[in-house]
Amino acid sequence: MNQLSTLLDSALSQLKTITTLAELTDLETKTIGRKGEVTEILKGLKDMPEDQRKEFGQKANETKKTLEAAFTGKRTELEIVEMNKKLETETCDITEPGIKPKIGTLHPISKVQWEVENIFSQMGFSIMDGPEIESEYYNFEGLNIPSYHPARDMQDTFFINKQADEKHGNLVLRTHTSPVQVRTMQKYGAPLRIIVPGRVFRYEATDASHDTTFDQVEGLLIDKNISLAHLKGVLEEFLTRLFGKKVVVRFRPGYFPFVEPGLEVDFSCLLCEGKGCRVCKHSGWMEFMGAGMVHENVLKAGGIDPVVYQGWAFGFGLTRLVMMRYGIDDIRLLKSSDPRFLEQF
Ligand code: PHE
Repeated sequence: MNQLSTLLDSALSQLKTITTLAELTDLETKTIGRKGEVTEILKGLKDMPEDQRKEFGQKANETKKTLEAAFTGKRTELEIVEMNKKLETETCDITEPGIKPKIGTLHPISKVQWEVENIFSQMGFSIMDGPEIESEYYNFEGLNIPSYHPARDMQDTFFINKQADEKHGNLVLRTHTSPVQVRTMQKYGAPLRIIVPGRVFRYEATDASHDTTFDQVEGLLIDKNISLAHLKGVLEEFLTRLFGKKVVVRFRPGYFPFVEPGLEVDFSCLLCEGKGCRVCKHSGWMEFMGAGMVHENVLKAGGIDPVVYQGWAFGFGLTRLVMMRYGIDDIRLLKSSDPRFLEQF
């Protein structure tokens, strides 16, 4: 009997010092477990005289029950403590500001391209597309560029070792956006008013102002009674809207096999407005693009009757325009994918 009450007292006082569920389980096993102290004491029951056995048995069971109740109470208490601890470390403060996702920015070429598209759309031009992998026919012959022309030289063109088909020769990476002229004429006929922004490729050594991949914008207008005066008007309007200030355009004679007459187009320097400065190399003008009246052979290739219709075409470097616009001094930055560069736009 004494053993039982000592055991009870000691177990209850140990219970008070317990702070974790693991410690509680240990104490439980040690006292009322299958091989615990109470069980050990009960083993002595059979050697006891009959009259004491009953009383002792009752006392042992009571002790066990008391301990069980005490352990259960403690278990609940500890579980609540542990749950609170867990809640403290695992809660999140929903009022805290969120983590801002990194959002990309528009590439400067896309930005300017969209502006160019907007302005020309407002003037009634449609926006066309064409394949970057083009046939020799559309890139050259269809544009009145014969096979002996230096533009077809291995030094300028990326050739692909595969035929387009019987009629159109080998495949090349298009060296300009002009092939879309003939493609669009064939598809839609005259009259026509389009621009074609797109990537072009040239087999060149790269430096700060040359890259093997760059962007152009082609323009083509075909209708009745069209002259270069319309071209001048459209270009001045376009540039004035793009730069948000009055820009003047000048024509010089130039040569491209697919136009006749052919032109080089300059616009008045944005910085000095024609007076002459470092940016325009003291000429007052910025070189802008090639243009001219569409050659009759090109109209014919496009299935358009050159007696009834005529028109003009132009092609400018979108990449150069972007560089001027943002003061970018190395063309290679544009295709570098460097976020430190791109985030500035
Ligand atoms: N395709 C010419 C080039 O890439 C530009 C151009 C287009 C010239 C249309 C005249 C007419 O240089």
